[in-house]
Amino acid sequence: MRAATRVLRRGTTPKALRRHAAAIKTFDDQFDYLREILNSRVYDAAVETPLQHAAKLSSITNCDAYVKREDLQPVFSFKIRGAYNRIVNLGDVKGVVACSAGNHAQGVAKSCSILNLPAVIVMPLATPRIKVDAVGRHGGSNVEVRLHGNTYDEAAAEAKRLVDEEGLTLVHPFDDPLVIAGQGSVGAEILRQRNGRRLDAIFCCCGGGGLLAGVAAYVKQVRPDVKVYGVEAEDAAGMTASLEAGKPVVLDHVGLFADGAAVKAIGQETFKLCDKYVDGMITVDNDEICARAASFDVRWCLPVAAAACGRGRDTTSTPSPRRDTRPRGGDGVLVG
Ligand SMILES: Cc1ncc(COP(=O)(O)O)c(C=O)c1O
Repeated sequence: MRAATRVLRRGTTPKALRRHAAAIKTFDDQFDYLREILNSRVYDAAVETPLQHAAKLSSITNCDAYVKREDLQPVFSFKIRGAYNRIVNLGDVKGVVACSAGNHAQGVAKSCSILNLPAVIVMPLATPRIKVDAVGRHGGSNVEVRLHGNTYDEAAAEAKRLVDEEGLTLVHPFDDPLVIAGQGSVGAEILRQRNGRRLDAIFCCCGGGGLLAGVAAYVKQVRPDVKVYGVEAEDAAGMTASLEAGKPVVLDHVGLFADGAAVKAIGQETFKLCDKYVDGMITVDNDEICARAASFDVRWCLPVAAAACGRGRDTTSTPSPRRDTRPRGGDGVLVG
């Protein structure tokens, strides 16, 4: 198996491209992420999850690896944080709409159930029954699941129609400052839980970039010595491609193996924050993701982040020429 890691370090983007990126209008200048993350309203819906030592992964990688147990959230992922923080701050709205076949749908459904707010969740027709049922379970009578379209794009168009024609408010899965701030509470918890102890790097699974942007915006302002890396499947590496291009790029197609993080178009706001704060991106291939998924103690988290941790010491994969960017014998936290 050929190692597929590519690491894009901050500062390697050509100057002209960086100027172009800076020209993209975002919320960054008006929005104080540190304050918004610290004030985010996540704990009406989410719980503070433990940071758990991952013994097997630690021994494979010769690091002290910890997993942020976001699978212990009421909807089994961190997505409840951003969704709730966005929805609780909406004020007086008729109802919300979200388009997602994944964890965001469940986060929105649960949030609307807590806040007693009507919601329509649009999912593509081919969405597995188990995911549709999960949304129904979390949302209860407040939530209507509408199956529409053969692709995600067609479902998204239906969600947009509901915004335009029925006056519902869209809750974006990642490209929204309040969603990013909610996800950033994961970074605040990690630093608090490490309590000033050694922490070399945080590896975040990256889809549209909400989690990565929020965690990086917090951690790099509070503990700039801690490296924050985004991890993507190599056939769905939209943030890596965008940071290399110096602007958000849309992928023609994405591999669906890591379906929770398979996103064709990352966000404008997430791009801006990742360009500013993230130390590097790491891409991993499906074999590496499978190898990690098979490790007993990382089945708690999406194994994409785990696949990047300490690679180069894993005897099942070829050492990466760039492995110096990974903690050597250090302490790392995986999120995703
Ligand atoms: C478990 C898990 N990890 C990571 C991601 C990627 O999150 P983001 O789109 O904020 O980058 C998702 C997206 O749904 C997810 O469900």
